[in-house]
Amino acid sequence: MKRIAIFASGNGSNAENIIRHFQDAPRGGEVVLVVCNKPEAGVIGRASRLNVPVEVLTGAEIRDPERMLPVLERYGVDVIVLAGFLLMIPSFLIERYHERIVNIHPSLLPKFGGKGMYGRHVHEAVVAAGETESGITVHFVSDKCDEGRVISQISVALTPEDTPESVEEKIHALERLHFPRIIEETFCRKC
Ligand code: GAR
Repeated sequence: MKRIAIFASGNGSNAENIIRHFQDAPRGGEVVLVVCNKPEAGVIGRASRLNVPVEVLTGAEIRDPERMLPVLERYGVDVIVLAGFLLMIPSFLIERYHERIVNIHPSLLPKFGGKGMYGRHVHEAVVAAGETESGITVHFVSDKCDEGRVISQISVALTPEDTPESVEEKIHALERLHFPRIIEETFCRKC
């Protein structure tokens, strides 16, 4: 049974979907912790309603190995999933959890990745560039923003009528459908 921690900074629709996926049926994994760096983030209520403990930590605390590692040890965390987490992961965590940290990015990396490219900003850039497709990328986290080894990419067609809002809806639908399954296939079916 893989013990999963989700790191999130915002609304938390992906976090909720992943929690439910592993609560709904025996799937070889369990979300045991949510780590959040924003006290007002929607993810806190979503996780609490599903009885998943939440640790609200500042960026400085997350970057401090003496503060962060004991938290992960206390919950016995095997795997870390970034779901709308907007801070860089410190190198001590990348070393400790080598190829056990995954991120979802709402575009087909390497397109529309890198610093400042998150959430709606990504979809605005995609529409401004006149792209005919976008998609999601699930990848291992490395010390370079949005550059770790790709695990899976799924694309969706765009039309000239698409707006940043409609692209965001299409991307959220892909995330809902695929992200929990990719996590399960990457970490939970190996055991
Ligand atoms: C998701 O679309 C995720 O792909 C994106 O933030 C959104 C979070 O939504 N992540 C990034 O842009 C990371 N660079 P949520 O809080 O509702 O899950």
